[in-house]
Parts: sequence; C-alpha cells; structure tokens
Amino acid sequence: MSYRSGRHFLQIPGPSNTPERILRAIDSAVLDHRGPDFGVMARSLFDELKLIFNTEDEVLIFPASGTGAWEAALVNTLSPGDRIVMYESGHFATLWKDLANRLGFRAEFIDGDWRNPINPSLLEDLLVDDSAGEIKAVCIVHNETSTGMVNNIGAVRSAMDSSGHDALLLVDTISGLGSIEYSHDKWGVDVTIAGSQKGLMMPPGLSFNAISAKAKELSKYSKTAKSYWSWAEMLKMNETGYFPYTPATNLLYGLKEAIAMLNEEGLENVFARHARLAEATRRAVRAWDLEIVCSDNEARSNVLTAIYVPDGHNADALRSVILENFNMSLGNGLGKVAGKVFRIGHLGDFNELMLSGTLCGIEMGLGLSGIPHKKNGVSVALDYLAHGGNAAPE
Ligand SMILES: Cc1ncc(COP(=O)(O)O)c(C=O)c1O
Repeated sequence: MSYRSGRHFLQIPGPSNTPERILRAIDSAVLDHRGPDFGVMARSLFDELKLIFNTEDEVLIFPASGTGAWEAALVNTLSPGDRIVMYESGHFATLWKDLANRLGFRAEFIDGDWRNPINPSLLEDLLVDDSAGEIKAVCIVHNETSTGMVNNIGAVRSAMDSSGHDALLLVDTISGLGSIEYSHDKWGVDVTIAGSQKGLMMPPGLSFNAISAKAKELSKYSKTAKSYWSWAEMLKMNETGYFPYTPATNLLYGLKEAIAMLNEEGLENVFARHARLAEATRRAVRAWDLEIVCSDNEARSNVLTAIYVPDGHNADALRSVILENFNMSLGNGLGKVAGKVFRIGHLGDFNELMLSGTLCGIEMGLGLSGIPHKKNGVSVALDYLAHGGNAAPE
C-alpha cells in the first residue's frame, strides 16, 4: 500500500475519527493496574463517566467491543428461556436478537420496516396482553446505526409504565451516546449499553453497562452462566477502583481525555453541533434528489445518514470509487440493504469543514459513478453551514 498524502476521511458511522488529544493521552506509560495510582485514576473516571450517561447509577467498563456489552446486559439480568421483546429497527437490532437467541433466551421482534421508529403503543399492547408476566425484558436500539434512525426511549418508557408491566428496559446506545441526548435516569433505563468508538471519539475496545438498582438486584437471581461478563465481580472490584482482570489501561486514559473534551465543549453544544451537521447533510441529500432511508422526519439520526442509491446502481461500487479517488471511507449497507444503501457518518470529532470535504467527495463520486443526481447538494449544505445552521427549516 503506497502512502496517500493528507488525512484519510473516515466517514463511517463509527469508529469515528480519534482526535490527537485522545491519541496522545493513550500514548502514555502503562500503569500497574493493581497499584495505588491506578485506583485513584479509575475511581475518578467512574464518576466522570456517570455524567455522560446522565445517571447516578454505576457504569461498568468492559475491555470489549459493543457486542460484549450486549451479552453482558443479557446474561446478568436474565435466565435461560426468558422471553424478551425487541424492536426490529435494522441490522443491529437483528444481530442483538440473534445473539440473545443463541444464548438461550426467547427473543422476539415487534416487526419493523427498517425505515420507521417503534410505535410505543404496539409495545404497550404486547405488555398488557402478557398477564402471566412472561416477558422479562424489552430491548431497544436507541440509535440504529444501519438505518440512521432514532427510537424515542422516553416514549418507550412511558408505554411500559402505562402497561403496568415490570419488564426490564435494556437500551443499546452504542452509536448514540455522546452525540445525541441520552438520559439513563430520566428515561428509567435498567441497562444502558454503549461503546467507545462512536460519540466518545475513542478507538474501539471499550464498552459499557450502566445498571439501575432494579437490574442490579435482579442480577443476583439470574441463572445464566457467566464469568468474564459477571457484574458481581466487576462491581466488587470497582468499589476500590480496580477490575477483576487486566483492564485496557491505555484506553482508560483516552476515555478520561474524551470525557474532558466533551465537558469542555459542553454536552448541549456537542448535541447542537451534531444536529447542525446532520441537518446540512440531509439538505445536501435532498438537493441531490436522493432518498434518505429513515422516512420519519422526527426520527432521523444526527449521528449518521443512510441513503439509497437509485435502482440499477450499486452503493458499494460508489463507495469504492470514492475511496479510490478521494481517500474517503463511507459506511456500507448492512444486512438486507447491502449494496442498496451507503451511510455518511457525521459524528464525534467533526466540524463544518470536515463535513464540507465529505460532501464534496460524495458529490464528485456520484458524478464519476454515473448515478443520476442534481449537482447542487454541496452548495445547499454550504449555504446552511455558512449561516451557522440558522437557516429556516426546509
Ligand atoms: C447500534 C449498534 N449496536 C451494536 C453494535 C456492535 O458493536 P461492536 O461492533 O462494537 O461489537 C454496533 C456497531 O457498530 C452498533 O452501531
């Protein structure tokens, strides 16, 4: 592979670009993870992390990708054969359901078309019908990364409350945390699942479970075999700032820096920046006359935008042209939309000029690939960005 000058544009919806400050923090000498300095560092990190999840509850850190934290959430709260309800928001919801069934739970979908968020009243009806209390958990993906769609977790919580059912609420915000509003406490989430490589601007390798008092209590009765993922061991060791096994020490340094950066910018400003860049992206897509996958305006994600290529064209061929010519990676279509969809990540350490470059690369790629489109997507987005995102909604 020969050197390509300039920075590669990593515009997949995670891992996102890791800023220099975080890379430098990671590039430090490894501490003794059983020594006193480590304990001090980890205890303060546990506290700082709570602010990002908007919680007073404990947040556990696993040296693992997000999939590990999915598994941890299930094996600690459920017993073999337990019934779980999930919403089919897209490919990641499908993977989570498959994982749950492989672990011996009975996971079922409220069917979705991958284009619209959950209708909370369908969930409410299902829970009301379950008078035997068979359903032990409701599992929802907050920001569905395969489709660019956000499920309203507050509304899911309200539906669960209205039903009077006491199932646990498990939420995957692997690609939402740190980019769009999230409140573990206010939304009454029992287990929040997150990862390091998206809004937290970190490399992959850390994942999280924030756990409510109810989930913690129920975990004492879970009969599912577990060892590496066991909350009990982790909670005990975390009290003094330590882990039951060797933690990913240097990633924890990076995480501390990432949280400091989010706090310096202010979480509200971080969310507003994501909203502005996402709106500029959507305006470009509409100006190109291409179709956004999420058909519900209100549910469109500020983390990424998934876009259909017109029939007869291949989204992966477009992505290849853009990579070869302009050194930019875009997200591919996953599962049943493979080849039909490409995804623009506009999350994490990202700003107006980085988005402008991203959109230029796409507009040039559309032209080179012979994909029918109107040519003014970039100029429409620039116009919006130039006014600080204050232009009237379209
Ligand atoms: C919403 C969502 N859930 C789960 C995962 C799986 O996480 P990982 O690939 O880190 O195991 C991803 C990964 O992109 C995701 O976006």
